Amino acid sequence: MTDEKSPFEPDDAADGSGMRKGLTSYGDQGFSLFLRKAFIKGAGFTDAALDRPVIGISNTGSAYNPCHGNAPQLVEAVKRGVMLAGGLPMDFPTISIHESFAAPTSMYLRNLMSMDTEEMVRAQPMDAVVLIGGCDKTVPAQLMGAASAGIASIQLITGSMLTGGHRGERVGACTDCRRYWGKYRAGEIDAEEIADVNNQLVASVGTCSVMGTASTMACIAEALGMTVPGGASPPAVTADRIRIAEQTGAQAVQMARTGLTIDKVLTPEAFENAMRVLLAIGGSTNGIVHLAAIAGRMGLEIDLAALDRMGRETPVLLDLKPSGQWYMEDFHHAGGMATLLRELKPLLHLGAMTVSGRTLGEEMERAGPGFQQTVVRSIGNPIYPQGGIAVLRGNLAPGGAIIKQSAADPKLMEHEGRVVVFENIEDLVHRIDSEELDVTAQDVLVLKNIGPKGAPGMPEAGYIPIPRKLARAGVKDIVRISDGRMSGTAFGTIVLHVTPESAAGGPLAHVRNGDRIRLSVERREIALLVSAEELARRAQESPVAVPTAERGYRKLFLQTVTQADLGVDFDFLRAARMVGKVPR
Ligand code: FES
Ligand code: MG
Repeated sequence: MTDEKSPFEPDDAADGSGMRKGLTSYGDQGFSLFLRKAFIKGAGFTDAALDRPVIGISNTGSAYNPCHGNAPQLVEAVKRGVMLAGGLPMDFPTISIHESFAAPTSMYLRNLMSMDTEEMVRAQPMDAVVLIGGCDKTVPAQLMGAASAGIASIQLITGSMLTGGHRGERVGACTDCRRYWGKYRAGEIDAEEIADVNNQLVASVGTCSVMGTASTMACIAEALGMTVPGGASPPAVTADRIRIAEQTGAQAVQMARTGLTIDKVLTPEAFENAMRVLLAIGGSTNGIVHLAAIAGRMGLEIDLAALDRMGRETPVLLDLKPSGQWYMEDFHHAGGMATLLRELKPLLHLGAMTVSGRTLGEEMERAGPGFQQTVVRSIGNPIYPQGGIAVLRGNLAPGGAIIKQSAADPKLMEHEGRVVVFENIEDLVHRIDSEELDVTAQDVLVLKNIGPKGAPGMPEAGYIPIPRKLARAGVKDIVRISDGRMSGTAFGTIVLHVTPESAAGGPLAHVRNGDRIRLSVERREIALLVSAEELARRAQESPVAVPTAERGYRKLFLQTVTQADLGVDFDFLRAARMVGKVPR
């Protein structure tokens, strides 16, 4: 017998709590730790490795997710950073979601991924977690989950893909995917060319190369203070991206040691900064839904009217597709978020804390002076004078709707037209290309039943294609309205997120062929020119049957999913108490 202390004393937390965290399973805590260590030693660990801060790494690598195709290299670099800083890295899998490989829609699975992330972070012993995400829904899912789990958390973005080349033109997913498909539909290019360009649109692993949802969420994550400085922009296959990964691992250890938990970072100030950035980058409309969901986990509600007011004084500065001309790799070469934040400085809360343990303002100072470049405009010479996204209201959308004005046709932003209704996606697919479709370029296309409960999962079907007969006649844009979402890589005069949705009995459900709708982006109005009495009569005549399911995840989803203004989160996942609104 020696008088040395047993290595299984649960309160012997020498350096962070490490493997001792959350020891309740077997009643006797010493025994629980004894068992835990016995099992992990089965993987060859020594006590020296185990008695240090444990950094979980949520590894979302998957053969189904080429946007995360660099996950093995990132995990390796994060582990190196963790070990250099004296921690123990432990990677673990969670659900991974790719936009193109998730049916019925990736959004249907976002909340499931957030639950997976939250519960695995909570369940397994770790003092901090590195969240590796990139493709559209993954970053919001991880931030939602981590916000609820409450531990020290840091986001690592996988990074954008490289651009490709097609017959002398630079191309990238997926604004150019839509552009080329539009040309093919209109008969401007042939089958051989569309097959050629298919090889070039996604030139490497990584996320979409334009300011789509993935890039938007990367910029938002950095603006929230959730990545190391400069974490948003390095492309997936660059040395910069791997260095960011190493730094992220090291920083996670620092956060574990100092107790820099996520609630100290995700403050109202941080959300306001993120909203500014969303507007200034001409970001994806999905960014609003995701921000609302993340904020909801912290007990904060996004005030859409205030966001719109913010938009009127926040110009679009970033010249990236689909609102502008460049790609993410160009943004990185132009200095990335440091360049953008420098321009936005007067509009930001500089005191907001970041995962680095320094404030946003301190990080901006460390980033040093700017240099001549053409991707990020100055506030005096913007791409678009207002924020990219405008919030609309009216009898068609009592709970609000949005339009990405920076990607819309200015000629259609003040428009009144006759309505052509599609009842759901199937109806649209059957009729949109029909020669018999009674439609002109002055009409307003309305698509119902693609909201949170409608499809379900609020698919990105809001980008209604131009009817083939109009496309062939050279029509490039037409007013389109739905309760669904649109890909951040898409463009057009498209009203989205009409709330409440048609499947839940919103006014959109009662729009009929031949009605008239007035859109005024200037007045922020979306009006169905039908009297309240007539709408009430229609509602009585054809009541809406809200969709249900008999079992499984779909049942949980349909019973608990909230509308777009609350982030399409499940009601029971939001914070138990709401503590305020952002912006305040
Ligand atoms: Fe993954 Fe676009 S498909 S980011
Ligand atoms: Mg997308």
